[in-house]
Amino acid sequence: MKNPLRKLPKSASVAIPQDGQKLHAPAAQRNVEPILQAIKPHIPKHGRALEIASGTGEHILRYAAAHAGLSWQPTDIEPARLNSIDAWAEALPNVANAQHLDASTPGWAKIWPAQDVIIFSNLLHLISEGEARTALAESAKALATRGVLIIYGPFMRGSEFASQGDREFHESLRAEASEIGYKSVEWVHKAFTEAGLTPEPPLDMPANNLLLVARKS
Ligand SMILES: C[S@@+](CC[C@H](N)C(=O)[O-])C[C@H]1O[C@@H](n2cnc3c(N)ncnc32)[C@H](O)[C@@H]1O
Repeated sequence: MKNPLRKLPKSASVAIPQDGQKLHAPAAQRNVEPILQAIKPHIPKHGRALEIASGTGEHILRYAAAHAGLSWQPTDIEPARLNSIDAWAEALPNVANAQHLDASTPGWAKIWPAQDVIIFSNLLHLISEGEARTALAESAKALATRGVLIIYGPFMRGSEFASQGDREFHESLRAEASEIGYKSVEWVHKAFTEAGLTPEPPLDMPANNLLLVARKS
């Protein structure tokens, strides 16, 4: 069942009010440095980059500063987050105003075509398999030839959780909405392939997270 604004456990999507419209996610501040290092080899010098589920905006702020030759488009489904993204990114000339994008809705690739980079973090476990398949298929359509899709987050390895904490988090998600929860690396790689993308080997990240990368040939 499709319900992008479904109720989640408090720990699943933290956004603490800061000054003005800004929201702050402690996890985003913690993981942005390792993500920046990991994505560096995959980001072209110039082009268009779309971030899905930008959250508070604390990631795209840093991506855009580190990769100033790209035009960055932040998106999310929650109005308060769109305001927060704009507040954080105000001074960056290569970040467009944040726009509403529900990645689980078929057809969005037509509105955001020819992307050289599509990136999102900490989303796939918050949506159902059907919604995740749509998000990945639309991302594949929205990419330019040789474009890259980069996904950061928590994943199962086969049928195994990386830690007891991951299992408990997955179970807490399932308790709120039985259709959501962790996807496995293999599940995501199959969805990449079905969408016409070529997966690269997963990259281990801090706190048992992974960076999954796939390219459009
Ligand atoms: C856990 S937060 C992650 C935010 C940010 N990417 C990060 O890692 O800090 C999940 C974000 O996904 C957004 N979201 C949830 N469902 C979505 C959907 N169907 N399409 C796009 N964004 C969605 C939420 O509004 C929220 O900002």
